[in-house]
Amino acid sequence: MLKRHPIDEKNQLLTRRNFLAVSFVSPAALKLAALGGLVALSPTPACADDDDVTPRNIEGPFYKPRSPRRASLLEKGVKGTKLLLTGRVLATNRSPIARAMLDFWQADSDGVYDNDGYRLRGHQFADDSGRYSLETVVPGPYFPRTPHIHVKVQAPNQPILTTQLFLPGEARNRFDGLFKPALLMAVRDTESGKEATFDFVFATR
Ligand SMILES: [Fe+2]
Repeated sequence: MLKRHPIDEKNQLLTRRNFLAVSFVSPAALKLAALGGLVALSPTPACADDDDVTPRNIEGPFYKPRSPRRASLLEKGVKGTKLLLTGRVLATNRSPIARAMLDFWQADSDGVYDNDGYRLRGHQFADDSGRYSLETVVPGPYFPRTPHIHVKVQAPNQPILTTQLFLPGEARNRFDGLFKPALLMAVRDTESGKEATFDFVFATR
């Protein structure tokens, strides 16, 4: 079922309640899914029509609604290798999709999620060219997962895509049943840490 984009088109105000209402799944069920077996969800019909679209991945047990709106997750107390992730939100014909919402959450460098506050959690909107930019740190692994960044992306008037991004060269990628090569970021080392790119591709109608 298609859900409307959470931006009120009249006043451009975000209505996160709508966004979150359509994305809620029982935490207990998610924990079971995450711990019990690295369960892959079936793609929506819209995503199954085209092999080039960004694949889904499970939400996992640690999603929290109402993350702060921010493009940098760097703040006091966040340690680890800095990671600058940039990319675009595109249609399958490679045209940009403006103003998609991207909601990121991840473990810290020790593989720990902040489930009390909002450390390493934040949402933002892509610009009119579909570009987004996230400042964060490289996530650490936690059993049984390889390092990954969770994200929900919702292009205007499209279903929410819930997925995860992975880093190349991680030994644990081979053993994580949720790992998908199509969700690998392109990563390079820089003087200050790492830079990564990833484009989200939607089969828009
Ligand atoms: Fe996770």
